[in-house]
Amino acid sequence: MIFVKEFFKNTKQIGSIIPSSSFLSKAIVSKINYKTANVIVELGAGTGVFTKMLVNNLNLNTKLFVFEINPLLYKVLHNKFSHLENVYIINTSAENLTNILSLYGVNKVDYILSGLPFLNFSTSLKNCIFTNIYSSLKLSGELILFQYTRFLEKDFLDFFVINDIEKVYLNFPPANIYTLVKKIK
Ligand SMILES: C[S@@+](CC[C@H](N)C(=O)[O-])C[C@H]1O[C@@H](n2cnc3c(N)ncnc32)[C@H](O)[C@@H]1O
Repeated sequence: MIFVKEFFKNTKQIGSIIPSSSFLSKAIVSKINYKTANVIVELGAGTGVFTKMLVNNLNLNTKLFVFEINPLLYKVLHNKFSHLENVYIINTSAENLTNILSLYGVNKVDYILSGLPFLNFSTSLKNCIFTNIYSSLKLSGELILFQYTRFLEKDFLDFFVINDIEKVYLNFPPANIYTLVKKIK
């Protein structure tokens, strides 16, 4: 209910009237190799539908950083997950990704999962977040994001190359999951 309420208060920033389905969440978190990942980042976690599945799979020596800009949704995430030693819930914008990671002594990460409603963002905000993601990801790292349309491709193709697109129909609305790797610049 809190998600729906926050949607009506700040439609553009929340971006979806209901959280992602369990089908979409499962498909997203299954892209990760939990055996090899040292650091995973989730951007725009909402009520934590992906986070819950991530923590169920996480090794104790893998760090998970969860970014959520909305203060009420941050509180929900904090109550659910902050007792976990290797999980860090951060109440700030994804624009601050590299700065926050460096505060925790982290330089590069293996996976970045995004639930961000990029198409509602200004060009400068999109570019700032993609620049942060690009500099935080390892060369072999992957950005996994979902979108309801293919319009965002023109924005991220300056930074990333598409490795895979998976369509998930059992979500409202149906979504494409992109697995992206860094473009060599
Ligand atoms: C479409 S919801 C996705 C929530 C959840 N991942 C899911 O799939 O149900 C987008 C979330 O991104 C958050 N968000 C929007 N802009 C953000 C930003 N600049 N930095 C961090 N989080 C942001 C919103 O508050 C919202 O919780």
